[in-house]
Amino acid sequence: MFIPWMPVAASRQAGRIHFVYYFATGIAIAVFSIVVAVLAYSVLHFRVGPDDESDGPPTHGHTTLEIAWTAIPAVLVTAISIVSAVVLAQNGRAGSNPLIVKVKAVQFAWAFTYPNGKSYGSLTLPKNRPVKLEITSGDVIHSFWVPQFSQKQDAVPGQVNDLVITPDRLGTFPVVCTELCGLGHALMRSHADVVTPAKFAAFMKGGAQTGPPGLAVFQQNGCGGCHTFKPANATGTVGPDLDNLKSEAAKANRGPLTAFIHESIVDPAAYIQPGYPDAMPHVFGTQIPANQLTQLVQYLSKGAK
Ligand code: CUA
Repeated sequence: MFIPWMPVAASRQAGRIHFVYYFATGIAIAVFSIVVAVLAYSVLHFRVGPDDESDGPPTHGHTTLEIAWTAIPAVLVTAISIVSAVVLAQNGRAGSNPLIVKVKAVQFAWAFTYPNGKSYGSLTLPKNRPVKLEITSGDVIHSFWVPQFSQKQDAVPGQVNDLVITPDRLGTFPVVCTELCGLGHALMRSHADVVTPAKFAAFMKGGAQTGPPGLAVFQQNGCGGCHTFKPANATGTVGPDLDNLKSEAAKANRGPLTAFIHESIVDPAAYIQPGYPDAMPHVFGTQIPANQLTQLVQYLSKGAK
């Protein structure tokens, strides 16, 4: 292709979807060309002379033509639906041994949990193995989208939606939230790394997640989607900059630093830093287990200046 009409296809599903797209587009181009050609010929060839005001000859339909222009489109539309149905069925098949990754969307970040129980803020996938994403949401409706995989799937609270992906191209591709989900929607992005099976095995064994336990809690709950926090390499700008927690806690004057952080997580509306909207989800108090909450508070208070 000389013009990149589509993102590069990075999965088998995307290759099939692109085929359906070009199949339907090819038929549309053929039909369009024939219609325009007949129209142009008629306009030019049957054009009346300058002073010709007589009626044209009376005609009464053309049975053969009418059957043809009914039958041909019917065949074409049926062909498109059969090709689409076959691709849809193929793309839904995960095979007998898919890698299962649990995907949880929250305002405004993604958490990807692997069979070994470890969670990450970005997606790592092995090449050429079917992956079944089990997608859900912790708050509102989001939608999972990697343009190069050509598929979208909604993340709905209280429901698990599956998406099968068989990556067939090494590289790093963007993960985008494609359902308006609140103030941080445009920032709700991550990335998918497609790696060789050997690298993936090492990733599963080693677990790239190192650092204090509070960091894991920070990442799993998507704090970095909205907050800047240097120790976590987080650069969100929807909520207050957590690097300034200490001075802000002093200004807020709501007790010791750890108590202030704890309150801000479980009851974010209790004190809102001037200049910021009341955008923080109110679910963390019930969503984050008590021991993890303690780890997170410790982590933030130690990293704060
Ligand atoms: Cu999540 Cu938009």
